[in-house]
Amino acid sequence: MTILHIDSSITGDNSVSRIVSQAIIDRLSAAQPGVGVVRRDLASEPLPHLTLDALADTSVLDQFLAADTVVIGAPMYNFTLPSQLKAWIDRVLVAGKTFRYTAEGPEGLASGKRVIIALARGGFYSENPAVALEHLETYLRSVFGFIGITPEFVTADGLSIGPEQRQVAIDQALGQTQHLAA
Ligand SMILES: Cc1cc2nc3c(=O)[nH]c(=O)nc-3n(C[C@H](O)[C@H](O)[C@H](O)COP(=O)(O)O)c2cc1C
Repeated sequence: MTILHIDSSITGDNSVSRIVSQAIIDRLSAAQPGVGVVRRDLASEPLPHLTLDALADTSVLDQFLAADTVVIGAPMYNFTLPSQLKAWIDRVLVAGKTFRYTAEGPEGLASGKRVIIALARGGFYSENPAVALEHLETYLRSVFGFIGITPEFVTADGLSIGPEQRQVAIDQALGQTQHLAA
């Protein structure tokens, strides 16, 4: 059993998505002693923008394919994901590897893998008019759905509202990790 742990926040120790993604890792590791955790920090070791030449390097894809579970810390930047995380996704969605086109339409090839995403957002996006601005959770749900995976989300919202709401959101997200199945 291998878990791939990915973070993409640029805010280091102040990062809520990092706190929550680590809590998810701790919980999964405690439930399954001996589990191997592979770390990829997209902020400290960023992947370059995708190029044609970079497509020939399958090391990021291979690392994803080798993992049974993938835990991702995903902060909201400008209503969507950090470009660091987009560069990783650009290497994971590969025709013929994680999806394929058939006569009946696209087919995901990565089903069977578990993906858990720690979302951290400064605002709230569940009620209008903000709903239309949410391109982080919706995007990640679409991307992983396209390759055959239904991601699970642990969310911390309203983090920029103020210190009290920030602490409430962190506590709630850490509480949500308790309900993740082993
Ligand atoms: C560059 C930048 C852009 C941001 N853009 C948004 C945004 O569009 N909407 C939002 O709700 N919060 C936004 N925020 C707030 C972050 O989502 C919030 O601080 C969250 O805690 C980030 O995750 P982290 O704590 O793991 O870094 C932004 C923060 C930064 C640093």
